[in-house]
Amino acid sequence: MKFDSPAATNPIDRMQVVGQPHERIDGRFKVTGTARYAYEHNDLGPDTAYGYVVGSAVAKGRIARIDSSEARRAPGVLAIVTHENAGKLGKGRLNVARLLAGPEVEHYHQAVALVVAETFEQARAAAAMVRVDYERTDGRFDLAALASGAPLVGGNSDEGSASPPEERLGEFERAFADAPVQLDETYTTPDQSHSAMEPHASVARWDGDELTVWTSNQMIDWGRSDLAATLEIPKEKVRLVSPFVGGGFGGKLFLRTDALLAALGAREAGRPVKVALARPLIANNTTHRPATIQRIRIGAGRDGKIAAIAHESTSGNLPGGDPETAVAQTKLLYAGEHRLAAMRLAETDLPEGNAMRAPGEAPGLMALEIAMDEMAEKLGMDPVEFRVVNDTQVDPMKPERRFSQRQLVECLRQGADRFGWSARGAEPGQVRDGQWLVGMGVAAAFRNNLVLPSGARVRLGRDGVVTVETDMTDIGTGSYTIIAQTAAEMMGLPLSRMQVVLGDSDFPVSAGSGGQFGANSSTAGVYAACVKLREAVAAKLGFNSADDVEFTGGEVRSGNRAVQLADAAADVELVAEDRIEFDKDFIDAEQQSTFGAHFVEVGVDMATAEVRVRRMLSVCAAGRILNPVTARSQVIGAMTMGVGGALMEELAVDTRHGFFVNHDLAGYEVPVHADIPHQDVVFLDEMDPRSSPMKAKGVGELGLCGVGAAVANAIHNAIGVRVRHYPITLDKLL
Ligand code: MOS
Repeated sequence: MKFDSPAATNPIDRMQVVGQPHERIDGRFKVTGTARYAYEHNDLGPDTAYGYVVGSAVAKGRIARIDSSEARRAPGVLAIVTHENAGKLGKGRLNVARLLAGPEVEHYHQAVALVVAETFEQARAAAAMVRVDYERTDGRFDLAALASGAPLVGGNSDEGSASPPEERLGEFERAFADAPVQLDETYTTPDQSHSAMEPHASVARWDGDELTVWTSNQMIDWGRSDLAATLEIPKEKVRLVSPFVGGGFGGKLFLRTDALLAALGAREAGRPVKVALARPLIANNTTHRPATIQRIRIGAGRDGKIAAIAHESTSGNLPGGDPETAVAQTKLLYAGEHRLAAMRLAETDLPEGNAMRAPGEAPGLMALEIAMDEMAEKLGMDPVEFRVVNDTQVDPMKPERRFSQRQLVECLRQGADRFGWSARGAEPGQVRDGQWLVGMGVAAAFRNNLVLPSGARVRLGRDGVVTVETDMTDIGTGSYTIIAQTAAEMMGLPLSRMQVVLGDSDFPVSAGSGGQFGANSSTAGVYAACVKLREAVAAKLGFNSADDVEFTGGEVRSGNRAVQLADAAADVELVAEDRIEFDKDFIDAEQQSTFGAHFVEVGVDMATAEVRVRRMLSVCAAGRILNPVTARSQVIGAMTMGVGGALMEELAVDTRHGFFVNHDLAGYEVPVHADIPHQDVVFLDEMDPRSSPMKAKGVGELGLCGVGAAVANAIHNAIGVRVRHYPITLDKLL
């Protein structure tokens, strides 16, 4: 199905099942331990072996020699894979560094060997006996030192949307110089780690020349393609299965070491092999969100109208990697006639930087929304009003393009009302509660809405059950549930008659889970397949056309004729498959984005400067909300993650040796629910007929965008200290 005009009224609009607050249909499997995650595929036979990954001890250089003779003699060892015996390997389209080093080493903890043994403990013990001699060479590890010479470089703001190195409108420099109120500040965000609860893990089995990998991956088709490309075998010979994913956050968008080495280990050992990356390996072996240095200049009139705005971001990456597109939102969020957005990229030899939840906007808004707070202060304006005054209904870089939907002002106004914003003291340090100084902060939320083609197959079984099959993944987001709701609505059946099977490359290729495009795109694909199934049912039951036929209450009706839906499959199962394709010109004709407002109240201890988040509210305008329970969970999780970005998260770089020092969950801290006593989420009524037949958008990343700045602004309001370098730790407040 081609989507090339605004969505007409369709069965989804009944919202009898879609849009209802259904609990997760897979929830029971998760809380009873019957949802099997990658490493838990224990039924591949008693000869299943265990692999343990050895990571490089240097960040840059060459492997001079590997001596694995002692490891080979260790108890239980079955095979050892290194670059010397792995055979010729290609490289996946989406991989920057190779997943098995040798002889060159490109980054710290790049895999240099896999030890396969009868038990996990034997593999781990033998891994410590693999002797690797390195010739170490100097690397580039200090972004701050490299930033001044970094060239302008474009990149992808996320899967598919290109971002040029520099964009200008009007005459920024002149307009900024002329502006009566000016801000010119630099903000920094550190390297961050996804820290998913489930580590990267895979189990691989070869059947002749056919490979099956049970893995933990957000994007089945990308993973399958890149695994085939790396092994240099036909894609058709590779099957990837990933029915449950214990968190991804962008860290599992790509083929990683676990999947490749499990496949190589299984080939070498002639047995199925399980590989999980040990927690201390993950931060340096996999990807991370790159650190940024962001200079923001804003010039405004005394009336608060922005005349000139510039956002320049510098990040680092391995050769061939992309810049962090931290300027993305600044092109679209606020009005202003004279504009500049630019990205610079320094080549570094730290591990690969890549997408982490809301790549671009998440770190970009951490900077921009502090700058907006600082400008409001300079102007003597309320921070909510300052944002409202600078709202725009058109793309500020291309004024002929409208936003398809944009309710930023409504988000700010409703949020301010609900949060009790009017009680905020404009001057810092005015509100005290015992030992705490209390402050409130606000930030706008913004995230682009991407759409990707997505396919699905639906079956109406002889038992009247509808089964949906697609390679879409559920990374904890609720895909199973919203897909079941979509098919139930389309076929006029209750949720209990739906079966959803996900995450298998034998099924039609879906959008996958990334860039907050998954929910809208994948359900639109299911919608398309259901349209076809409805046609097949109508034809089978002798209706003239599916157009004036209603599917409801388990029946198919037209005029005064009503037939049981299940009758259509009484003799033989009906199967339909289709795919939603988005017409590029239609999609690009208007700007599709999601908007929100974050409100945060913090307390700062007067003696110790300990920061506690007391209350948070997010108001989101993100198209039709397919399920308010799962969407709310997404936003609450994102808000919690945003508090981590504000107060705790930082991969500490050893700039001499080139690695992230705090590479486990003891040293890399993330907040939990219990850290925040009160979180509230409001979704504004919205439908976007330009987003898909579902009229939905993404919300899982929007919930993170801006949170960090709202916390920073609340801290400033509490105690008057302006911190521009994340995370906001005690030492920066005392
Ligand atoms: Mo997202 S960072 O595209 O999983």
